[in-house]
Amino acid sequence: MAKILKCDDCGSIIKVLVEGDEKACSEHMFEFPVQTEGEKAPKHKPVVEIDGDKVTVKVGEAAHPMDDDHYIQFVLINTGCEKYIKEFKPGDVAEATFTVNSTDDLVAYAFCNLHGLWSSE
Ligand SMILES: [Fe+2]
Repeated sequence: MAKILKCDDCGSIIKVLVEGDEKACSEHMFEFPVQTEGEKAPKHKPVVEIDGDKVTVKVGEAAHPMDDDHYIQFVLINTGCEKYIKEFKPGDVAEATFTVNSTDDLVAYAFCNLHGLWSSE
């Protein structure tokens, strides 16, 4: 599970690598819910293609906008104990190819600046 937090105070978005005791952070941090369904899913839910050790992630079935005010900020994949991430800026194509050691337990995530965190599963 990708745990993505946002700080209400400064606006930072944080990927949790190691979970600790969050009591100290809970005053400012909130966790993005992981979404997989709904009317916005076709443009947000990551689509995964696997070809040998190459994993390509597209967002989503229908291309997501990559405008200045609405775009995919990053995609992230978890495969077993490995994590891969690619960041985007407006105007980029929201697609990433990673070379991985294993596709076991692979889950892809995409993060939209307006519509939050989406998962392939
Ligand atoms: Fe969006």
